[in-house]
Amino acid sequence: MHSNSKNFIGKSKPILEILALVDKIAPTTSTVLILGESGTGKELIARQLHLKSNRAAMPFVTLNCGNLQESLLESELFGHEKGSYTGANAKKIGLCEIASGGSLFLDEIGELSLGIQSKLLRFLQNGEFYRVGGKHPIHVNVRVISATHRDLEGQIKEEKFREDLFYRLNTITLKIPPLRDRTADIPILVEYFLNKTGQEKVFQIDPPVLELFAHYPWPGNIRELENIIERMKILTEGNTLSLDDVPIEIRTPTLQQMKIKKLDLELTLDEIEKNHILRVLTHCQGNKAQTARNLKITLKTLYNKLHNYGMLKSTRETQDFLLKRSQL
Ligand SMILES: Nc1ncnc2c1ncn2[C@@H]1O[C@H](COP(=O)(O)OP(=O)(O)OP(=O)(O)O)[C@@H](O)[C@H]1O
Ligand SMILES: [Mg+2]
Repeated sequence: MHSNSKNFIGKSKPILEILALVDKIAPTTSTVLILGESGTGKELIARQLHLKSNRAAMPFVTLNCGNLQESLLESELFGHEKGSYTGANAKKIGLCEIASGGSLFLDEIGELSLGIQSKLLRFLQNGEFYRVGGKHPIHVNVRVISATHRDLEGQIKEEKFREDLFYRLNTITLKIPPLRDRTADIPILVEYFLNKTGQEKVFQIDPPVLELFAHYPWPGNIRELENIIERMKILTEGNTLSLDDVPIEIRTPTLQQMKIKKLDLELTLDEIEKNHILRVLTHCQGNKAQTARNLKITLKTLYNKLHNYGMLKSTRETQDFLLKRSQL
């Protein structure tokens, strides 16, 4: 599937609100600033804004502001005239011009140097710019969307980002929450990544894996989830991804990683107990005797709890358990 036609998957409250806002603002020309941690889907949202606008048939042009040094970035953005500097053998059309009539997506906007920031500000204010070495202003009609994972307001305080540019860029701000704060999206995202279009094999996932995913803090957000699912699909023996297929770093996230997860006031004590049991179980690679020993409970209690959670892996295991229970 071409990345342009990718859908933005999600059904959590914050995502539905963002998608509703996207529908509302897409047809306008207002500048949009998209904030969010790495891998939360900022670029995908930018593309949605373009695709849902009346500019959809026109170009969507992306510039990663963190990749180039200042002089190259300026000529990339605004173009240059022939002979404007050593090595400029021909005229170059900048991305602002290429995006004419469409949308210009400035990714990693927080990386822009102050020099380019002032040129960009002038462009946003007047809709005109000069090619490097150019004498005549060029007018274009471009919708500017920008994104960053940085705290721009903090950068303003440190005088690394111009406040006036910030207000020009963020007529509308979309804040995409990290995946750990919208765990309701995990099952449908997993389903989406599990069975992408054009794939021959059909995959399924064991419910305990989803349970585990819901408690992992996902520092790399959706990108990390997508990568993990791809990895599990390659490594699994059959068609069902089970706890055994989950990479070790997801099974036992570091304390540091767990700390970034927000305190969830809605969690009940039972749920916390269940989480802990499941984490110890996965840490012990599914070994129930070892898990029970670690938890200082009997094997019978452990089986009882897993049975109640519906977490015994197979019907055979359930039968074994019921048999064991009758013998214990
Ligand atoms: N809601 C979603 N539905 C489907 N795919 C998603 C969703 N959010 C993100 N993705 C996928 O996750 C990956 C990362 O998304 P994207 O590149 O948009 O993130 P980003 O916020 O721009 O990250 P970075 O800050 O690292 O550039 C992409 O492959 C994207 O298609
Ligand atoms: Mg990005």
